[in-house]
Amino acid sequence: MMEIIDRPIGIFDSGVGGLSVWQEIDRLLPDESIVYYADNANCPYGEKTQKEVIRHSARVTQFLVDRGCKAVVVACNTATSLAIDYLRETFEIPFVGIVPAVKPASINSKTGVIAILATAGTLKSRKFNEARQEFSGNTEIILVEGGELVDIVENGLQGTKLSEEILHKHIDPLMERHIDHLVLGCTHFPFLIEDIKKITGDRVILDNPAPAIAKRTKFILENEGLIASPTNKKQYQFFSSGDIGMLKNMLENVIGLKSFFY
Ligand code: DGL
Repeated sequence: MMEIIDRPIGIFDSGVGGLSVWQEIDRLLPDESIVYYADNANCPYGEKTQKEVIRHSARVTQFLVDRGCKAVVVACNTATSLAIDYLRETFEIPFVGIVPAVKPASINSKTGVIAILATAGTLKSRKFNEARQEFSGNTEIILVEGGELVDIVENGLQGTKLSEEILHKHIDPLMERHIDHLVLGCTHFPFLIEDIKKITGDRVILDNPAPAIAKRTKFILENEGLIASPTNKKQYQFFSSGDIGMLKNMLENVIGLKSFFY
């Protein structure tokens, strides 16, 4: 029987966006097996009620627990903002969540103006607004709802005219207001960094919280005595509630991973 430390980490998102977190965790914790679940059939979460996001997050977590996951990373700002408290109360495993990185952007801003690009669900949530209020005294924080961009990434439309148009619509007004940090408050958005940079150039720092989430995951596993052994037979597994083609396309063409299981 497999030792608990060598059981996989579960990671989930409403779709392929959480792969931006998966990449960082895989890099930092190379011995860990990972089960990734994309809830494509129910994407986007950003437009759903809190009750619905809780329901989907609980179902996906149960799926990961049933596959023996020793811990779960909620690689979705929307699900973390709306459902992680419920998940922590309901399941006995450790959870790691992700919320838009307001603090580092606000502390490091030189112009005193930053923007958060996230889904409607995240921007409306109590969790996010508590973090925002803590820092809004010293920094002007502009909120931008970027739900349409989730579809761009889900459909692999980065680098297209449509992606460019939507990004211009969101980011041009921010450039006029002299932001110097743009927080990528949705895990899908790191896959748009090249497109975003075409608009912001070097004038704006793009804050991607994924590396910090990987460090936090390592810290939690260490604390709980759950780091995989160096002899662990690492496995990658990917599941989708919808069209597996989206995940497959992202893994093969964007991430460059050729060997994995569904
Ligand atoms: N990737 C997600 C997030 O970080 C959710 C996008 C969505 O489903 O609306 O918020």
